[in-house]
Amino acid sequence: MTTIIAFVSQKGGVGKSTLARALAREAVAGGLKTKIADLDTQQGTSIDWHRTRLNAGIEPAVSAEAYGTAEQALKAGDQYDLLIIDGPARTSKGTLAIARLADLVVQPTGASVDDLRPAVREFHALVKEGIPRDKLAFALNRIGTAYEEAEARAYVGEAGYVALAGCLLA
Ligand SMILES: Nc1ncnc2c1ncn2[C@@H]1O[C@H](COP(=O)(O)OP(=O)(O)O)[C@@H](O)[C@H]1O
Ligand SMILES: [Mg+2]
Repeated sequence: MTTIIAFVSQKGGVGKSTLARALAREAVAGGLKTKIADLDTQQGTSIDWHRTRLNAGIEPAVSAEAYGTAEQALKAGDQYDLLIIDGPARTSKGTLAIARLADLVVQPTGASVDDLRPAVREFHALVKEGIPRDKLAFALNRIGTAYEEAEARAYVGEAGYVALAGCLLA
């Protein structure tokens, strides 16, 4: 059984690739057979990262490959324990296809209302299409202060979602 964790957002630059790579590195170190499926074929951030680590001989080696769709990634990655989807910034439709396949959908977001409002709207759209709420979680990123983190956590909680424990600081 392959567990699929996907990092999605409509916006670019929110931390999808950063978190996908960090999770992949930790999962491999913890003994899980792990692969990153880089669906952002324009940026290829995780592919570049993979190559850089290989060239520098950095352990543990984490495999990453580019795919056009989540379905293709799953077909090629079903022998892994964990398939991590590094999503592209794209329309809700592409995100929906990813969310249907994933066991957990993580949306990184900043703490400002300008970030949070569209991010919540994105999850609402997935729920409306039948994605269970308990598959959806926010990851707080670029957080300045503990107060800011608490406020953002409360905002997503009021919207009916959870934010994963901890956060990445700005
Ligand atoms: N918390 C953070 N603090 C500083 N830089 C960050 C942080 N999170 C992400 N970045 C940087 O911001 C840029 C965009 O992040 P990335 O993970 O590539 O976003 P996405 O994949 O969502 O487009 C990258 O250069 C990344 O290193
Ligand atoms: Mg990216």
